[in-house]
This record gives sequence, structure tokens and C-alpha cells, in this order.
Amino acid sequence: MGTAVGAVDNKETARSLADLNPSVVFVLGGPGSGKGTQCANIVKHFGYTHLSAGDLLRAERNSGSENGTMISNMIKEGQIVPAVVTIKLLERAMLESGNDKFLIDGFPRNEENRAAFEDVTKIVPSFVLYFDCSEEEMERRLLSRNQGREDDNVETIRKRFKVFLESTKKVLEYYNAQGKVRKIDAGRPIEEVFQSVKGIFGPKNEKAD
Ligand code: ADP
Ligand code: C5P
Ligand code: MG
Repeated sequence: MGTAVGAVDNKETARSLADLNPSVVFVLGGPGSGKGTQCANIVKHFGYTHLSAGDLLRAERNSGSENGTMISNMIKEGQIVPAVVTIKLLERAMLESGNDKFLIDGFPRNEENRAAFEDVTKIVPSFVLYFDCSEEEMERRLLSRNQGREDDNVETIRKRFKVFLESTKKVLEYYNAQGKVRKIDAGRPIEEVFQSVKGIFGPKNEKAD
């Protein structure tokens, strides 16, 4: 497989990631629950690097990679891309970031994502931030997001909701059984949601301005 400039092969990636021993928070929630919006705030206040699995997949699709057509078709249908592809992108982004604290947003989306990530990276998340929001509110937000995304249309949005209910909820149940889920009412205004987020990351970890 062709590799991008600066990319490292699999073995080397695994070795370096083990050396890095990163701290990882998974950020989950339905489409439009505000994951990306809140992650931007967390980055500013707490010094994490934000990695959105969806953003990484869209960039990979746009780069003309050999997986581009497959990724594009999956996104159009709201389906989940095979873990091997997404994990490679996440590993590369972690190593290239120069940081060791990550918000991994929109991943793991299903059991295959979760098990493969654990298997390949050996990374166990510190906790899972879960933005809980009604479908009505999420649909309203997605339809006015205006980022030109081809999956922000009613038909695909409904498919994405279904995938969230059928697949991502299982991942939340898995981590809930380990006491790792921090659930936040994400149906409120952005600032109010962030106040709750701050309570979870803790005032002692906040960066000085
Ligand atoms: P996600 O990454 O979970 O899909 P985004 O952060 O992209 O969600 O948010 C989806 C849309 O909703 C964006 O246009 C964003 O500006 C808006 N948004 C995010 N959080 C809120 C909120 N708490 N209240 C109202 N609108 C919001
Ligand atoms: O998180 P975001 O809304 O940006 O994801 C957009 C799409 O990217 C998803 O609907 C899915 O098709 C794809 N995706 C994926 N695997 C992930 C995250 C996103 O296949 N872990
Ligand atoms: Mg997002």
C-alpha cells in the first residue's frame, strides 16, 4: 500500500505509540450532539489534541488514496469504515501531533472499532465522554450545520441515527460496565454544556491563559 510522506510502517507505529504511552479520552454521542464543538473548547482549556475520526476519514478520501472510493461510499450511507483503515489514520495523527493527550472524537463507533483499537494499540481510554442529545435536536443542528457535508441530508441523517442506536450504544454499554462513561446533557446551549465538561476534566487540569 502506498504511504503518505512522513508516514511510518505498522510495526514502527506500534513501537512508537507504545513509547508515547498516550492518555486518551474517547468522545462519543450521536451525529450533531456537539462533539466537535466541545472538543475545540477542551483543546483550548486543557491542552489535548483533538482527533476526529470522521475528519481524518474525509481528509483521507480527499487525498486520492486507494481507499478513497470505499470511504466516500461508506460516508454517503452513514456506514462505519473498517477499523483497520481508521486506526491507521488515528495512529499516524497521534504520532505526528507531538502531544501525548488525545480526544478521539467519533471513535470507537462500533464493537469492531473498539476491539481492534485495543488489540492494535493496547491503549485503554481514561474515560469516555458521552454527549447525550435528542434526535430532534441533533437533526435540527445537522440540517443547519452548513459545512457542505454530503451526509448532512435527512435521508443519510436517519441512517446515521440508526447506526448510532444499533452499534455505538453497545460501545457505550461496554465502557459503562467499567464505570468509564461520563454522560453529559448535550441538549443545552454550548456554554452550559461546556460548564459540565469542565467539571469532568477538573479545574486543576485547566491551562493558565
Ligand atoms: P458533532 O461533531 O457531534 O457531529 P458538531 O460539533 O459539528 O457535532 O455540531 C453540529 C452543529 O450543531 C454545528 O453547526 C454546531 O455549531 C451546532 N452546535 C453544537 N453544539 C450545540 C449546542 N449545544 N446548541 C446548539 N447548537 C450546537
Ligand atoms: O463523526 P462524523 O459525523 O464526522 O462521521 C462521519 C462519517 O464518517 C460517519 O457517518 C461514518 O460514515 C464515518 N466514520 C466511520 N468510522 C468512525 C467515524 C466516522 O466510518 N469511527
Ligand atoms: Mg463532528
